[in-house]
Amino acid sequence: MRGVALVGCGFVADLYARSLASFPQVQVLGAHDRDPARMSAFCAYWKIREFPSMERLFEAMPKDGVILNLTNPGQHHVVNRACLEAGFHVWSEKPLAVTMEQARDLHDLAVAKDLQLASAPCSVLGEAAQTLAHAVRTGVAGVPQLVYAELDDGYIPQAPLEAWVSESGAPWPYIDEFRTGCTLEHAGYYLSWLIAMFGPVRTVVAASAGVILNKRGVTDAAPDVSVATLFFHSGMVARLTCSIVAPHDHRMRVVGEDGVLEMARAWDNAAPLKYRRRLRIRRRLLEHPIGRRIRLVGPTHPMMGRRGAASMNFALGPVEMLDAIAQGRPCRLGGDYALHLNEVTLAIQNAGETTGAQAMQTTCGVIEPMPWAR
Ligand SMILES: NC(=O)c1ccc[n+]([C@@H]2O[C@H](COP(=O)([O-])OP(=O)(O)OC[C@H]3O[C@@H](n4cnc5c(N)ncnc54)[C@H](O)[C@@H]3O)[C@@H](O)[C@H]2O)c1
Repeated sequence: MRGVALVGCGFVADLYARSLASFPQVQVLGAHDRDPARMSAFCAYWKIREFPSMERLFEAMPKDGVILNLTNPGQHHVVNRACLEAGFHVWSEKPLAVTMEQARDLHDLAVAKDLQLASAPCSVLGEAAQTLAHAVRTGVAGVPQLVYAELDDGYIPQAPLEAWVSESGAPWPYIDEFRTGCTLEHAGYYLSWLIAMFGPVRTVVAASAGVILNKRGVTDAAPDVSVATLFFHSGMVARLTCSIVAPHDHRMRVVGEDGVLEMARAWDNAAPLKYRRRLRIRRRLLEHPIGRRIRLVGPTHPMMGRRGAASMNFALGPVEMLDAIAQGRPCRLGGDYALHLNEVTLAIQNAGETTGAQAMQTTCGVIEPMPWAR
């Protein structure tokens, strides 16, 4: 039995707990939150042990276990650092840190202490992403030439946010979400797929803006829209859009020389992949209107069978890290990759109006496909 412990018992912790239940070989040792009432509600709901302090959590942790940092983004650096300093492997919710200075500090500390450090999202390890990457590798649409990826969530400030409550009763923290910004929160969902398919990013040419000036009383929010053109070392070019303004659209389209690979739902591990072959009919050129479903052969991983963010299995990342520790290899989503993902995400979020082209200072190696997707 391999163990994880949770720090932060808020909205996302319930998604982790539900996901972890799909891996019975992983034991949840307990959880800590600096808000005792929230910790008690969460631990009572999931019938797990409460750790009243980080020190008590550390005492109960085996060295081959993983601490899941599920706190708010502004707390990631301090909590990740405390766990690494205490000698534990860390799976952090995204972003790894809110500045590159903090992210480098964590990366270097993990290397110095020979510990695993990786950050969400982990949907790149899920069936949808792995199927798409496999289709790209095997040339289903011919040589890929351009990607359009959209992470538009709809006009979120008008959504019934007060009604968004997690299983154990945590409200969706919209004030923190608005201040953190949708790019820092969400760009990684597709950036991770893009880096897995096309390798590290060389240059980011992005712009970001705040176009809804008052979001439910929040007037000091981070940008609510960003559009980035990403130039990869491999030569690939991709456009990535993030917003909480434009109508909901979570498509990724990989345009190849023979047609288009299209994924409609970024957050659904079970989302179908369509291939639309390009056709020449008389004097017209069009993509196949129905398309063909592309599937991997064989079982992949436990699906959540739910909607929205809850259709992602949040445990895929922590389980990958536990496997990496047991097998004595680096976690697929750790090390240089985690740092690079953080740099590209921050470059897009902070681009504003006039930054222009940004040359990335970090890079990373290949993210190996999952064994069932090779
Ligand atoms: N809300 C979502 O839908 C969602 C989805 C995916 C990922 N995430 C990510 O999950 C993380 C947490 O988001 P959330 O929505 O659960 O936020 P939340 O505010 O609901 O929960 C965060 C919890 O962390 C606790 N906390 C903060 N600092 C702490 C510290 N230093 N020590 C102990 N506890 C501390 C808070 O008391 C709170 O209960 C963020 O990084 C976010 O980007 C959120």
